[in-house]
Amino acid sequence: MLPKSQPLTILGIETSCDDTAVAIVRYEKNTINILANTLSSQITLHSGYGGIIPNLAAREHIKNILPVLKNTLREARLSPKEINAIAVTQGPGLIPALLIGTTVARTLSWLWKKPLIGIHHIEGHIYANFIGNPQHATRNTQPTFPLLALVVSGGHTQLILMRKHFDYKIIGETQDDAAGEAFDKVARILGLGYPGGPVISHEAAQQPVVVQFSQSVILPRPMLNSPDSNFSFSGLKTAVLYTVQKFREKNRLAENVPLPKEYIRAVCAEFQQATIDVLVKKTIKTAKKFSVKTVILAGGVSANTELRVQLGSAISQFVPSAIYHLSPIALSTDNAAMIASAGAFRFVQMSPKEKEQTKENWHALKTHADLTLASH
Ligand code: KG4
Ligand code: ZN
Repeated sequence: MLPKSQPLTILGIETSCDDTAVAIVRYEKNTINILANTLSSQITLHSGYGGIIPNLAAREHIKNILPVLKNTLREARLSPKEINAIAVTQGPGLIPALLIGTTVARTLSWLWKKPLIGIHHIEGHIYANFIGNPQHATRNTQPTFPLLALVVSGGHTQLILMRKHFDYKIIGETQDDAAGEAFDKVARILGLGYPGGPVISHEAAQQPVVVQFSQSVILPRPMLNSPDSNFSFSGLKTAVLYTVQKFREKNRLAENVPLPKEYIRAVCAEFQQATIDVLVKKTIKTAKKFSVKTVILAGGVSANTELRVQLGSAISQFVPSAIYHLSPIALSTDNAAMIASAGAFRFVQMSPKEKEQTKENWHALKTHADLTLASH
């Protein structure tokens, strides 16, 4: 149980990758409501390069963060005086990008004399599922413990067991590429641009399917039957590369000639299904093993409609006692409301001494590119 708390207003800042995001949430009676959630995306800038260029991302964060902050305060109709604390993504992520967010957060903490809380990016993705605006119809209740979170993003693929708030045990994780990274690399192989997830899921959903192509594209399900809860996606990506190379050779298509649309759809559908098969099977197995009450789907790849649907059906079929929680799509990919949500829950459970210490974080807070997820 969390201690009772006065309502709290928390400002969140997230700049770990290519989104400059600022949000304000209100914590009241164990529930988070979003007052404003603003984001400036750099996708069009980076898509031309096929991935994120860290220094370019930092330059854009510098340009955008103060206007985004101003808009967020305006949208929430709040003045800095009404903010109780600031939460910021401390890591992991791209260091030039993270430093912009943490430097702005430290400056505001010093200037406004507010407590400052450093948040792990993955912790933020998990706490997106504790945001409870009534319009988010997928969940009516808060997740209950023990819970299992499948976190799938561009940098992480992990199964995390939580027996209580801020108690993290990594039960399984990818041995190589993250699931989102595989989506991005496969999109590059197919000439579909960056980021790969949305475009692959869009292509995979197109009809009609050309049977001749779908029957010829068969990809592996790496580690599907391994006894642990780990994953591997790098072999799957390589299998896509070889499959496409063979197709080009057989059909005498040079590297610079675009692949037929119908063939691209068949590869996207099979790659997406192979990824979903392993994610779902390992999640169900782990959920059963630990008799969890809740399964959370979090991180950018959780925006994938097929994954959302297929994990939901598997949970109702194989672990019917568990409740399935997933965020609205806007809160699945990177945003600052999730960072503010984690910050609010963290602040509430701090002792008076710990709360006092957060006032020193304007100079003490460190930024870590490879921060590990620690229990608090
Ligand atoms: O959490 P996120 O926004 O940023 C990181 O923390 O990495 O996740 C970004 C990842 C990218 O790899 C992107 O391709 C993937 O999430 N993604 C998707 C979808 N939307 C975004 N993957 C599959 N299907 C989607 N609809
Ligand atoms: Zn993320």
